[in-house]
Amino acid sequence: MLKANDPCWCGSGRKFKRCHKAATDRVRPGRLSPMRAVPAAIPRPPYAATGEAVRQPEAAVKSPEVIERMRRAGRAAAEVLAETAAAIAPGITTDELDAICHAACIERGGYPSPLNYNGFPKSLCTSVNEVICHGIPDDRELVDGDIVNLDVTIYLDGVHGDTNATFLVGAVDEQSRRLVEVTRESLELGIAAVRPGRPFSDIGRAIQTHAEGAGFGVVRSFVGHGIGEQFHTDLHVPHYYEPRLTTLMEEGMTFTIEPMITVGSYEHDLWDDGWTAVTVDRRRTAQFEHTLVVTAAGAEVLTQL
Ligand code: MF3
Ligand code: CO
Ligand code: CO
Repeated sequence: MLKANDPCWCGSGRKFKRCHKAATDRVRPGRLSPMRAVPAAIPRPPYAATGEAVRQPEAAVKSPEVIERMRRAGRAAAEVLAETAAAIAPGITTDELDAICHAACIERGGYPSPLNYNGFPKSLCTSVNEVICHGIPDDRELVDGDIVNLDVTIYLDGVHGDTNATFLVGAVDEQSRRLVEVTRESLELGIAAVRPGRPFSDIGRAIQTHAEGAGFGVVRSFVGHGIGEQFHTDLHVPHYYEPRLTTLMEEGMTFTIEPMITVGSYEHDLWDDGWTAVTVDRRRTAQFEHTLVVTAAGAEVLTQL
């Protein structure tokens, strides 16, 4: 019987657990619980009723009044993320995490922004192991050794706060721990690159330099975004260096930075559910996200406790 740390039988030179055992451990689509209800008294974004987000014009630079509301929504998102993450343990299902997130949003008088956003069926995104982003909570139990990203967005006081983090489930292998650490650092370096008068390409350059320097890949197909009264505005924030991106950051702009970093390929496949994005090689990936506002000095992170 081949042991986890033996060289794989296929001759790849990789340990069996990283190669063909890993192949059998891949995340599979699970069963979804019925859609969760939101009390009628809670104000909801326009797409909540239709399942279709129709993009409206929205200024990239926000007024101090909008920024103040975004501070409250951002803080609430950070609280909901912390409360949901506290329940992470081997054996809990991602649907149970969704229930916690859903209740925590409502408790704060907020609407869980993912729910019915372009038809997304749940209140939280749960992205496990090789899932890059937009994983749908289902009946899969977290198992010892998993990494799981929880992406929380709340609509509160007419604005969205969007934040995510990747967590370790039990005892996680060294490479995955390094991946998670480097991804967290990549977000921090991206935030440190925010400065009025500088091009948006500075952010991706800082992130790509760090992630590739550590031997990891940077996902191109999903980017950070402008945010405010709408979940996603047309402002794009790539996490790789895009020299043609000459748009300048301005004081009062609000957007997310949310690098997705991979152990192997940065290309993705989409599951048949139309949401779940996985790495093409099914190797692991991690993500961290904050919503921030550009200040005179740099950036103020809005999704903080
Ligand atoms: N929160 C994600 C982001 O960071 C978007 C999730 S869209 C959903 O942009 F529909 F999947 F919820
Ligand atoms: Co986002
Ligand atoms: Co998000």
